[in-house]
This record gives sequence, C-alpha cells and structure tokens, in this order.
Amino acid sequence: MANDTVTDLIDQQTWLDPVADWLQKATEATYGATGDAGQQVKNLLSGTWLGHPLHPAVTDVPVGAWTVSLILDVLEAATGERTYGVGADVAQGIGLAGALGAALSGLNDWHYTVDRQRRVGIAHGLMNLTAAGIYGASSVLRATGARAWGRRLSYLAYGVAVFSAYVGGELTYGMRLGVDHAAEEAPEDFTPVVDEAQLADGQPRKVDASGVPVLLVKQAGKIYAMGEVCSHLGGPLSEGTIADGIVTCPWHGSQFALENGAVVNGPATFAQPCFQTRVRNGKVEVGPRCVAEAAAAVTGTMPALAQDDQAVTGARS
Ligand code: FES
Repeated sequence: MANDTVTDLIDQQTWLDPVADWLQKATEATYGATGDAGQQVKNLLSGTWLGHPLHPAVTDVPVGAWTVSLILDVLEAATGERTYGVGADVAQGIGLAGALGAALSGLNDWHYTVDRQRRVGIAHGLMNLTAAGIYGASSVLRATGARAWGRRLSYLAYGVAVFSAYVGGELTYGMRLGVDHAAEEAPEDFTPVVDEAQLADGQPRKVDASGVPVLLVKQAGKIYAMGEVCSHLGGPLSEGTIADGIVTCPWHGSQFALENGAVVNGPATFAQPCFQTRVRNGKVEVGPRCVAEAAAAVTGTMPALAQDDQAVTGARS
C-alpha cells in the first residue's frame, strides 16, 4: 500500500536519529528548566485545555491559507490582474504565521515519540520546515518584484506541504499519534477483582475486570477505579505515583484525577475512563463506567462523592 511504502521508506532513514535525539532532549530540557510555566505551555500546546489535541486544528491555518494563495496565484498568472496577487501575498503570509503555531504544537506532540513514530514525525516536521522556507523565499521574491518566480516557488512549496500533510495524516490515523489510547471497554456488570484487605492505602494496583485492565487505588477510605492504559500514549498508570487524589503517569507525567479521570495536567488531552466500585463480602468489585465521567474532560472537576460501607467509590454517579 502507498502509505506503508512511504512510511517504510522514511523509517529506513537512520540518519534522522541524531537529529531527533538532539531535538527531543532540547525540548524536554526546555520544559524541565521552566517548571510550572513549562507545564502550562505543555498543556496549551498539547490541547489539554481543549480536551482534544491542538496540532490538527492549528495545521488547518497554513494548509487553508496556502490553498487560497495557490488559487489566487493561478488567477493572477492567468489574468495578469494584480489584485489577485495582493490577496495571494496576504494569504501566504497568514499561512507562514500559522505554520509557526503548527510547528510548536507539532514539536510538543512529537517529542514524546519513539521508533517509527519518531522518524516519520521528524520527517514530517522537516518537510514542513522546507515548505515554510520555500514560501519565505517566495515572499522575498514577490517583495522584490520577481512575482513570476515567487509564484513558481509557492507552487513547489505547496506540493511539499501537501505531501507532508499526507505523512502527518498517516502519523495520526495509521500510527495512532494523538488518538485516545485508553481502552474502550468497560465491565458490563460488577466484577470481583481483589480482596479489599489486599489493597494498601495509596498503592496503585493493576487488576483485571472481565478482561478490562483497571487501575485500582484506595485512598482515605475510598476506592477508585480507572482505565489502566494512559490515554496519551498507552503508559501503565499502575506504575505511576499517587498523591492528593491524582495519579501521575510514569511515562510522560500526565496527571488524572482519581475521582473522575479528568486530565489535571498534560500532555494527555483525553480523560481516563473511570469505573464504579463497591465492596461486597470483603471483595472489591469494579463495575460499569461512572455516569459522572461526562464531566471528566474538564480539568480539575472533582465532584464530592458519598461513601458507605457497602458501596465505596471514588467515581460513581
Ligand atoms: S503515556 Fe504519555 S503521559 Fe501517559
């Protein structure tokens, strides 16, 4: 298949690895050095505040603007009408400004990747950089009166940008970068998973509830259950840390509220599925999804929940 051929070819380009190594380390070091402010930027660029990855939305700006620019360039070339050229120049400039936002959000998303995703991702970024560079040169030519050559460069840049967009689509839809990695399934009914006595306070534990991997945490007398697989890139939440009603993923530090699975801090953008729990005959049981989960995409929403000695839950309607 054509998409496999392209990504296979990119995946063979091992010379990309040193570049990727350097860029990932530089990005992580920048975030690390900027503390809370860096975390806020991470949340912003990831789309944590939006409940959806930001990058795909931002990329519409350059692709759309450059498409308009292409049409107006063709009209100027065909009619000699300068007004079309003015519109093309403006659209091209808007596309370049939008490309900066797309580059920053894309770099943020990409710097967590490994292996094939990493190579295809950096190739996608370098192609976009090439397209932006050619558009920049085109803008200079246009400004100096060499409009015909400026248009020709723009046609070339558009071809590079479209091919890069195709590779970006493969990265998302084919290689699942930016999609929700949390398990879709939920137990249909309450299922006993572990003796309550075996659940130590504040210690995350992975259990199996009718084939669904679940993170179980007991804290301050409440028992919480959520999907074990991190929605960001599939990290094991049971190997993360628990503090103040929040679980932190061991892979990239996304934080989720135990109460309802809401994303407290990115890079995750999708909430974790949370499940109802109860204790019957000394056994902890995990049941269907929390009804309150619908509110979980809103960062920091942690509704107060009731507790009793038979049905103990940190996440139930
Ligand atoms: S897998 Fe990336 S934060 Fe969990």
